[in-house]
Amino acid sequence: MRVGVLTGGGDCPGLNAVIRGIVRKGVQEYGYEFTGFRDGWRGPLDGDTVRLDIPAVRGILPRGGTILGSSRTDPLTVESGIRRIKENLAKSEIDALIAIGGAGTLRVAARLVDEYGVPCVGVPKTIDNDLSATDYTFGFDTAVGIATEAIDRLHTTAESHKRVLVVEVMGRHAGWIALHSGLAGGANVILIPEQRFDLDQVCAWVTSRFKATYAPIVVVAEGARPRDGEPARPSGVGEWLAEEIERRTGNEARTTVLGHVQRGGTPSAFDRWLATRFGLHAIDAVRDGDFGSMVALRGTDIVRVPLSEATARLKTVEPALYEEVGVFFG
Ligand code: F6P
Repeated sequence: MRVGVLTGGGDCPGLNAVIRGIVRKGVQEYGYEFTGFRDGWRGPLDGDTVRLDIPAVRGILPRGGTILGSSRTDPLTVESGIRRIKENLAKSEIDALIAIGGAGTLRVAARLVDEYGVPCVGVPKTIDNDLSATDYTFGFDTAVGIATEAIDRLHTTAESHKRVLVVEVMGRHAGWIALHSGLAGGANVILIPEQRFDLDQVCAWVTSRFKATYAPIVVVAEGARPRDGEPARPSGVGEWLAEEIERRTGNEARTTVLGHVQRGGTPSAFDRWLATRFGLHAIDAVRDGDFGSMVALRGTDIVRVPLSEATARLKTVEPALYEEVGVFFG
């Protein structure tokens, strides 16, 4: 049995831990051999492979990024993409493929299984935690930790200068990172893509925070938008928000955009734990011939769900949860 492994989409702390889990269990327990495909779906598309055995996965558990490389290549949009993938998998004598990725990567895997009979198993990955079929994705805990540490640090500089500090975090469609890091870091305002915000209300919270003699921290997800119109600035909602707050309240404001820092570097202990377990269960799914499935976390159990179901719906922040956190605003 030879198993192909690829990592697609944006990189994410914990990818290497998944790869290590798959290879260690696959070789030691099942006697499988592995082939790594480089840069997501580009690997099988171009037949670009890399050696993947026990020595290749030694020491990678705490390493960020992915030893296989990643890309957002979508083979379904490439001419003869499916034919090329099938030919290259046959050439490398691949019996099964494990795709580790977010919604985009897994949607391709789902179609490859359902429509073209390619035996794929999926592992969910995204720092955004917005896949509906799993309680958590690995990478999220690390991103929240990094954002929380940044907010902690920004409190003291905000206090010293009596400034508003706007912190822009990742999350185009879902506000999970903003919500968790904002709550953990004691932010005074948290703005998420799921709910359009009222700029007057934001300014009122900022002003009331200053009245209480503390400098406010505003955490904004990159996809958050004001109720009235889009921010006109291409530089992002964080910059726009700081300018508007300064103009409207007269308080000096600055923006910190955390960007890819949230995805870089070593995974947290939780993400290593979750990613490793996903890897161990993914290779079990291959052994069981359970193609078209994806591993997922439910409570403390790792379960299997159909790939097609897993990628069907985005998991977003419910209004009730957002309201719960609102007690700390202002
Ligand atoms: O999906 C993960 C994510 O980190 C989003 O939060 C963010 O909007 C996006 O990727 C950034 O993508 P890129 O690395 O292509 O700029």
